[in-house]
Amino acid sequence: MTAKIVNLSEETLQLAVDILRKGGLVAMPTETVYGLACDASNAEAVAKLYAAKGRPQFNPLIAHISSPEMAKREALFSPVAGATASQFWPGPLTLVLQTTDTPTVCDLARSGLDTIAVRHPAHPVAQALIEAFGGPLVAPSANRSGHISPTRAEHVQSDLGEEIDLILDGGPCERGLESTIVSFVSEPALLLRAGSIETQSLANFLEGKLHRRDESGAINAPGQMKSHYAPNATLRLNADAPAEGEAWLGFGPSEHAGLNLSPDGDLIEAASKLFAMLRALDQRFDRIAVSPIPNTGLGEAINDRLERAAHRD
Ligand code: TXA
Ligand code: MG
Repeated sequence: MTAKIVNLSEETLQLAVDILRKGGLVAMPTETVYGLACDASNAEAVAKLYAAKGRPQFNPLIAHISSPEMAKREALFSPVAGATASQFWPGPLTLVLQTTDTPTVCDLARSGLDTIAVRHPAHPVAQALIEAFGGPLVAPSANRSGHISPTRAEHVQSDLGEEIDLILDGGPCERGLESTIVSFVSEPALLLRAGSIETQSLANFLEGKLHRRDESGAINAPGQMKSHYAPNATLRLNADAPAEGEAWLGFGPSEHAGLNLSPDGDLIEAASKLFAMLRALDQRFDRIAVSPIPNTGLGEAINDRLERAAHRD
């Protein structure tokens, strides 16, 4: 069934919040593009979101917040990051920051990184939804992976209507271009994606202390970033069974002792548990054998992550 497009009212807001609490997917308007939102703390909901978008990789997602206090529970703000947020929020600027020790945004949404992208959107419907939900919502653009970002509720419906639960209408997006992304993880700040906030006004505010990745403005894919989560343990992929001294990470029915991403062979469940189980095994073992994961649906993204985790330079 195709998701309904509804206008914001007390009733539809409550409906949207109920859907989010149950781990469902709600498209919400922002001033840049429509976002596909889910509860940022719920790994299963996040896995469903990746599946709906058909993402070949688990790109880290932006946590949308509705107050500076909410952002500070997730991320550490240096003085310059805090000043930048005060200047440009609410608005189409995303800040990449170090996480706090206890972020509520789950590992899967952060792609296992110890950094987090946060943004306080200016659109009143997005603000109302986050506020009513009471915690961060992750929201990539609400299009199928590889398609054009949606700037009207109808775009979302035609692209993802079958995969999601509700579409909140906020009219056409004012900006129509994604947020500008800047990282404050190291100094000086680094522009990761040019977007709706003009790079020059950001550079002016930072008094020129803004680096760009390269002159063409090309953005490195996040999967290529060094900071990506890599376990200390050695991973052996596509294993039939654990060898002596190896921990076991299974998928599907398995008689081996260890952890299992999904005994039922459910790829969404497996995606939601991947980072947590890798971390848990990594803390206790030096070598981990991982059973084969089918390369269909979310399996492609799971295998991509596992291959990166297995590869050491
Ligand atoms: O305007 C926008 O930003 C829209 C609306 C819905 O808010 N959202 C959006 O999300 O464009 P998405 O998922 O399409 O793009 C998020 C970008 C990705 O390129 C991702 O790599 C980057 O943010 N990102 C997220 N977390 C990151 C992190 N910890 N470090 C570096 N890049 C990060
Ligand atoms: Mg996008």
